[in-house]
Formats: sequence, C-alpha cells, structure tokens
Amino acid sequence: MNRRAFLKSVPALAMLASAKSNLFDDSTTASAAGPIPVSITAEGVIKLSKPDLKKGIPVMAALKNRKTTRDISDKKLTLQQLSELLWAADGVNRPDGKRTAPAARAKYAVDIYVVLPEGVYLYDVAKHELALVTKGDFRKQAGMQDFVFIAPVNLVYVLNLKNWQEKSQPKPDQKQDRWISIELGAIAENVHLYCASEGLGAVIRGMIDGKKFGEVIKVKPEQVLLAQTVGYPK
Ligand SMILES: Cc1cc2nc3c(=O)[nH]c(=O)nc-3n(C[C@H](O)[C@H](O)[C@H](O)COP(=O)(O)O)c2cc1C
Repeated sequence: MNRRAFLKSVPALAMLASAKSNLFDDSTTASAAGPIPVSITAEGVIKLSKPDLKKGIPVMAALKNRKTTRDISDKKLTLQQLSELLWAADGVNRPDGKRTAPAARAKYAVDIYVVLPEGVYLYDVAKHELALVTKGDFRKQAGMQDFVFIAPVNLVYVLNLKNWQEKSQPKPDQKQDRWISIELGAIAENVHLYCASEGLGAVIRGMIDGKKFGEVIKVKPEQVLLAQTVGYPK
C-alpha cells in the first residue's frame, strides 16, 4: 500500500476500531428504538443498536425464570431487544473479537439466521448488523409448530465450517461435531437467559425441516442444525 492509500484508509480504520470497542463498552447505555425493522439501508442491512449492558435481572434470577414458552404472541420486539437478543446469543464481548458463547478453538461454526415476518437475515457478528438474505415471510419454512408461524422472531442455527477447513487444520471428526454442538447449546442457552431477563418467551426447536429451510437460504439440509423461537408470552 502506498502512503496516499494508507492515509486514506486511516479514518476508516479509526472508525472501525471505535465502532468495535464501543459495542462492549458498558459505560454508556443504548437509546430505546421502535419496533423492528426501523432502519433498513438500500442494501437491505439492518443496523443493530448498541446493546444496553447495564440492564437485566441478576443471573441467578434469570436461571430461576428460564423455561420453554410455546404460547407466544405475534407482538413485535423492538430493534433494541433484537439487538440485545443477538448480542446475548453470540455477540462480540471482548476487543479480541471473541464472543458471549464459547466455541472450540474459537472457530465459531454456527451462523445465526434471523427469520422476521419481513424477511430472512444473517447476523453479521463482527459488524453487529443483519444482512438481508431474502425478502418475504418464510416462517412456514422455519418450523412445523403453529407458534413458529406467528412468532415475531425465529432464529435458525446453521453450520458453517469455513474456519474448520483451513488447510493447516484437520477436518471435523465426530469429536469436533460434539464440540460444535456444545457451542450451539451455549448460544441457545444465552438466548434463553436473555429472554428470561427481558420477560420474553423462547423455545429451542429441533423440529425444523432442513431441506425446506436450506432451500430458502441456499445451504445443504444437514447444515440446518436447530432453531429457536422468541416472542412475548401470550
Ligand atoms: C435440542 C433440543 C431440541 C428441542 N426441540 C424442540 C422442538 O422441536 N419443539 C419444542 O416444542 N420443544 C423443543 N425443545 C424444548 C424441550 O421440549 C424443553 O426444553 C423440555 O421439555 C424441558 O422444558 P424446559 O425447557 O421448560 O425446561 C427442545 C429442546 C432441546 C434442548
């Protein structure tokens, strides 16, 4: 890179660094935001607000409240709640880019797809934003139970082995598959605990047709690992 190009890139780098460090800095609180989606860019990106790291009930109370809730209403979450839900699930919580959920060798093999009534989005963890995958209501493809079709948010956890497939690394074997399941379990429990704190209901769901949903997001059926429905209890 020549000097001119480098100097041109400096403000962008500085902005990136400050955006990243601000996300897990709990010295400020986030502002409230309206129902989702509030700000979709021309490229279909939903910029998620900063999670409020000072809110919430004590961990012990959240553990006491954690349960499966299937009686979920169609009431929408706010953008702030969606932001916090995803950050709690698997957001970046340290300057080195590591996340709220542990992952074997920090290889992060689980992508989170967010099925909203308006469209399906992919959670971009590093940028803390949602990238549009496809417009439209695909809740019918995201599960088999009636509550899925009316819930405001369905998360679908999808296997992404890109970090396991570097040339220097062995291919995932059965043991590594179990490690990835543990990463997935930690993400799903993080979601449960956030919901317990926020007064939201949640259901982990093995019942999702991988072929049907895989066709929507263009991945193989076996990559569709698990889903989780979130919304206000009725
Ligand atoms: C891996 C996994 C898959 C599950 N799949 C479903 C499902 O497809 N549908 C559903 O209604 N509940 C599902 N559940 C929720 C369980 O039925 C529930 O956690 C269990 O009954 C215990 O209830 P609790 O979560 O309130 O403690 C699943 C839970 C796990 C951990």
